[in-house]
Amino acid sequence: MRFAAQVSAATLVLGLSRTAAAVEATASDFASQKFDFVVVGGGTAGLTVAVRLTEDPNIRVGVIEAGQYRPGDPVIEVPQSAVAPGNPNGTALAGNPTYDWLFTSTPQPGFNGASIPLPRGKVVGGSSAINEIVWQRGAKAEYDLWSTTFGNGPRWSFSGLLPYFRKAENWTPPGSNLPLQVSPSLASAHGTQGQISVSYTSFTSSVEKPLIQAAVQLGLKYNGNPDLGDPTGVAPIGRNVDPVKGIRSYAGNSYYEPNAARKNLVLLTGAQATKIVFKTTGKNISATGVQYVVGGTTYTVNATKEVIVSAGTFQTPHLLELSGVGNKTILAQYNIPSVLDLPGVGQNLMDHPFTGSDFSFPPGTLTLDSLRFNATFRTEQQNLYTSQHKGALTYTPAINSPVTLQSLVGTAETNAMMKNLTAFLSTFPQTPLQKVQYQAQLDMLKAGDAPFLVMGELPTGGFLGPADFNTSYTTAVIMQVHPFSRGSVHIGSSDPLAAPIINPHYFEVPFEVDIYVKALQWTQRWFTSKTVGGAVHLPAASDVKTDAQWDTYVRTHTQSVNHPIGTSAMVPLSMGGVVDSNLKVYGLQNVRVIDAGIFPLTIGTVIQQTVYAIAEQGADIIKEAWNIKAY
Ligand SMILES: Cc1cc2nc3c(=O)[nH]c(=O)nc-3n(C[C@H](O)[C@H](O)[C@H](O)COP(=O)(O)OP(=O)(O)OC[C@H]3O[C@@H](n4cnc5c(N)ncnc54)[C@H](O)[C@@H]3O)c2cc1C
Ligand SMILES: *[C@@H]1O[C@H](CO)[C@@H](O)[C@H](O)[C@H]1NC(C)=O
Ligand SMILES: *[C@@H]1O[C@H](CO)[C@@H](O)[C@H](O)[C@H]1NC(C)=O
Ligand SMILES: *[C@@H]1O[C@H](CO)[C@@H](O)[C@H](O)[C@H]1NC(C)=O
Ligand SMILES: *[C@@H]1O[C@H](CO)[C@@H](O)[C@H](O)[C@H]1NC(C)=O
Ligand SMILES: *[C@@H]1O[C@H](CO)[C@@H](O)[C@H](O)[C@H]1NC(C)=O
Ligand SMILES: *[C@@H]1O[C@H](CO)[C@@H](O)[C@H](O)[C@H]1NC(C)=O
Ligand SMILES: *[C@@H]1O[C@H](CO)[C@@H](O)[C@H](O)[C@H]1NC(C)=O
Repeated sequence: MRFAAQVSAATLVLGLSRTAAAVEATASDFASQKFDFVVVGGGTAGLTVAVRLTEDPNIRVGVIEAGQYRPGDPVIEVPQSAVAPGNPNGTALAGNPTYDWLFTSTPQPGFNGASIPLPRGKVVGGSSAINEIVWQRGAKAEYDLWSTTFGNGPRWSFSGLLPYFRKAENWTPPGSNLPLQVSPSLASAHGTQGQISVSYTSFTSSVEKPLIQAAVQLGLKYNGNPDLGDPTGVAPIGRNVDPVKGIRSYAGNSYYEPNAARKNLVLLTGAQATKIVFKTTGKNISATGVQYVVGGTTYTVNATKEVIVSAGTFQTPHLLELSGVGNKTILAQYNIPSVLDLPGVGQNLMDHPFTGSDFSFPPGTLTLDSLRFNATFRTEQQNLYTSQHKGALTYTPAINSPVTLQSLVGTAETNAMMKNLTAFLSTFPQTPLQKVQYQAQLDMLKAGDAPFLVMGELPTGGFLGPADFNTSYTTAVIMQVHPFSRGSVHIGSSDPLAAPIINPHYFEVPFEVDIYVKALQWTQRWFTSKTVGGAVHLPAASDVKTDAQWDTYVRTHTQSVNHPIGTSAMVPLSMGGVVDSNLKVYGLQNVRVIDAGIFPLTIGTVIQQTVYAIAEQGADIIKEAWNIKAY
């Protein structure tokens, strides 16, 4: 099972509607230019930083991006192509080499030996171009750990990040067709001057309203404002879609494209960075530039102030290791000379797995499946999209509820499960960082001030198994957001163009499977309630009679929901950290990491909004350090 997206029929009638401005440098021209900052990775965080720094016309920034620039590409921009169900011919975004690096995990013992796809955006905009467009922020308790427990100071608390959540947003309140009441305080949580258009789905299928009612009947709390520190419960779910144009708003079309004509911002596409070049003077190690490969030729570009690595959770550690920065024992295996022994690089990988279940609905139930088998409906919705930028092709998930474990199984059961978990962890090998993280996670689990699961849905079949013709389905999507297992990403070759070895170590802690079994059983009560009226389609009742069968179902039906973090952790060096609270790599004079890898610990929701906030804050930290004019 995987989030496979089909090229929606809309993509066939729309072409690339906007063209690239003449901003892209050639490989050799780029190398000959003078830059204050070189940013590796024109993705979510990298473009945000580059655009903020070049607000000062005296600051020159060069961006190296491996993917292509695809302004106006409907496969990226039509929201529905991100959430459409499986297509036997492949996928539109994730799984498609035009947009995705196509990484896979190593075989996972926790998944009975299976490897799973780990998509990453390879295009200008990075993973923000290929993600599922859900826009949420985490709990106050989670960010406050970053500032206190992990020692990063008030800038990285929830209240320190709040101005940056707002700074990234151009928010439009939900319309009256959202099947949820919003709290009047919601507007105060959001910004209206930022780059990313944030709105709420204006199209809902016939299952969402009953699902919301039934969730509340089953005891989930109703939350009219999830964005000021408590995201838990059934709440209005934001999405990064321009509500007027009906298109995905992402780093490529919302940060870069409007500023592409800046003379001091130069983007090189189709170029893979292979090494940061260092100069060592006494004990000072400073970066002087970056090597990159285009069409088999290696070039070097200079950076007079800093190199900023924004290649993402998998590829930032990869580039650091190729450059000699990392665990020197690992580097020695590939004959890479050690520049700096920094063993935290590539460790502490955390991800959000997802598992699911699907349900069928009586004939006549309107879900996105109707796009698949009802040609009248499909044509009607395509026309609505083309003429008014509305309708089913703009659908984004309307339910994605972060929940505490208590809210699903009660306090007594939570305590019993915690007792087992604590007993397991007492014999589980752990690093100094894991010890601190586990205590924080157990405290949050007990206090119930952070979600451990996210209960979501997509009103369509085809994700978990084949969908019958003429049948309407809804898929329950359950994310696990505070796993205890820890993985790693490291080089596996001295060839800089080879993929990194990604081992997430999913399900090493049995609690992670146990809470999924409980969550799936809860989901069955939810979807088959009288209010909702679904019939179980998968897992078939006969396949999950015993606990052992449920366990097997979970281990064979779990994938990644693609929120990897933590491999360049912003924690103290003594705990295995890679960057300090100014995002500077420990032991290097002028290299920062700004991307999802710096999260010290994961958060209980989807993560892109936090990545933009990290990048906005990071840009301000750099401006302060170099006295660059703030705008
Ligand atoms: C399929 C999918 C669905 C998701 N769904 C959601 C969602 O619904 N909501 C949500 O909040 N989050 C979601 N996420 C997560 C979110 O999109 C990412 O966490 C976030 O975009 C990561 O930003 P980043 O800046 O760290 O990395 P990226 O945006 O991935 O940027 C890294 C960039 O660096 C480039 N690069 C890497 N190595 C090199 C190199 N050596 N040389 C040159 N360029 C290089 C890459 O091509 C890429 O453009 C999803 C992610 C995926 C993949
Ligand atoms: C980059 O730096 C190297 C080493 O200092 C120097 O030889 C080269 O001329 C510089 N390139 C540019 C374009 O300034
Ligand atoms: C899948 O590919 C087949 C053969 O090329 C084609 O006939 C069919 O229309 C494709 N289906 C979709 C949904 O693209
Ligand atoms: C080392 O770097 C520090 C801080 O950038 C600087 O003050 C110092 O002069 C440098 N020393 C050498 C030997 O370059
Ligand atoms: C460095 O890597 C080696 C080989 O994988 C490992 O044995 C060692 O524990 C690592 N060092 C640290 C400090 O993590
Ligand atoms: C699909 O279902 C509808 C409603 O139940 C029915 O009217 C129609 O005949 C079915 N179409 C096909 C091709 O089976
Ligand atoms: C197909 O879609 C049309 C247009 O929305 C609708 O009127 C019709 O009832 C749908 N048919 C079925 C079988 O659901
Ligand atoms: C605790 O673990 C034991 C042994 O694995 C198991 O039998 C029991 O069901 C577990 N209890 C809970 C509440 O998870």
